[in-house]
Amino acid sequence: MKLGQRREGFSNKLGFVLAAAGSAVGLGNIWRFPYLTAKYGGGIFLITYLILVLSFGYALLISEIGIGRMTRRGPIGSFRKLCSRQKSFLHSVRIGGWINAIVPMIIVPYYFVIGGWVTKYVFAQACNPAATFHKDATAVIGGKSMSASAAYFQNFITSWQESLLFLLIFIVLAGIVVACGVKKGIERFNKVLMPMLVILILGICIYCIFLPNAGAGFKYYLMPDISKFSYMTVVAAMGQLFFSLSIAMGIMITYGVYMKRSDDLVSNVNQVELFDTGISFLAGMMIIPAVVAFGGEKAAENAGVGLIFVTMPQVFASFPAGRFFGTVFFILVLFAAATSAVSLLETNVHTISQEMRLSRRSALFYCLLEIAVIGSITVLGYSVLSDVHPLAFIEKYKGFDILDTLDFISNSVMMPIGAIFTTVLVVAVIGLEKFSRHVKPEGKWYRQYLFQLCMCVIVIPCLLVVLLNATGLLK
Ligand code: PHE
Repeated sequence: MKLGQRREGFSNKLGFVLAAAGSAVGLGNIWRFPYLTAKYGGGIFLITYLILVLSFGYALLISEIGIGRMTRRGPIGSFRKLCSRQKSFLHSVRIGGWINAIVPMIIVPYYFVIGGWVTKYVFAQACNPAATFHKDATAVIGGKSMSASAAYFQNFITSWQESLLFLLIFIVLAGIVVACGVKKGIERFNKVLMPMLVILILGICIYCIFLPNAGAGFKYYLMPDISKFSYMTVVAAMGQLFFSLSIAMGIMITYGVYMKRSDDLVSNVNQVELFDTGISFLAGMMIIPAVVAFGGEKAAENAGVGLIFVTMPQVFASFPAGRFFGTVFFILVLFAAATSAVSLLETNVHTISQEMRLSRRSALFYCLLEIAVIGSITVLGYSVLSDVHPLAFIEKYKGFDILDTLDFISNSVMMPIGAIFTTVLVVAVIGLEKFSRHVKPEGKWYRQYLFQLCMCVIVIPCLLVVLLNATGLLK
């Protein structure tokens, strides 16, 4: 879709919400949210996340969609347009557009790597005897005893040939979708599959209630334990919020371009926020009690990127018709991942073709090449390059592998910087009053004061703390 040329807008309000939610709901909700919640203390992370989404996330979502609708341009164009007549310092705010546009380029390679893992698990669930995943089965790898499903996952990511193969499959799938322009088609498909995913997740949540020892898991997930709170809780929750709501990466600015002036921006934002957070909450509800039921709180605290791949097969192994449901589950997750991956890829193709004046085809080629190269390096980070820890010079991050590093740089460093620029753009360049009038031309809206308060006093100091923390100076 050529930005700025087709501005017919969304056919109806639901169209916008579904499109924005289709992009927002993805691996962020189902893969990333549960493992971060488990790792950072359960309930305390959940409550921090909810507070941040309702204040911070809300303010930034309104800002980004409003900027797009106001300027009718993507991130680079809108920053450039708004800052062009400014002097001195405010003129340079336009580099914020570039920061917002570069973030999806850092995310996309590792998003595809996880997409490849999900693809693998569709096959694993369909073909593997459930016994391999059984919650009581154990295996020994490198002298360490672990559950059979953890060992299966470990074997998979450390076998570079297999992980590269699945990365390649996922790249080819997404490349075909973007090249043939069948994005609309899969989005239509998604309108059926997404509700199915939600229903399945709900069903699994109900099943998990009855798992022995699940009570301790629900408590871990729902009851905040203040003693587990640290700076990292806020930093991780903030990074998750950016990732999950697709903010600070130019995506929502682009969605705003297609929103009509007559559409009610505020209520659209409310719905996207509710939908995205609701799915994350349910995904947590599905996974965390199960992790605690199978491995205790220690297993939850030690959670990492593999959580969903280790725990869900165990749940399905104890499920009636588990092999069938497990396969369906991973197919649905694959679809959620694919729509988000395609929209990430589209964004990058658009930026590159516009800014470098390349044809869409060449831009797509370069984007896929980037994903193939950096994605492969990320995959090899678990095997051949397992000794590479790019952030080893910072004590706190010395154990980070390549995927962790890309995730950290995009979510905890670049996105806060991008969001600071967006805030300065709204507050100092456009002006808060003018912007609020654009958001809602007549009257005030519920949470308008909250929005203004966040933009003026809360967002920037909080983001600075996040950045300071990222340097490793704060514990
Ligand atoms: N928000 C998506 C998710 O939660 C990720 C994404 C980012 C998708 C940017 C599209 C664009 O998975």
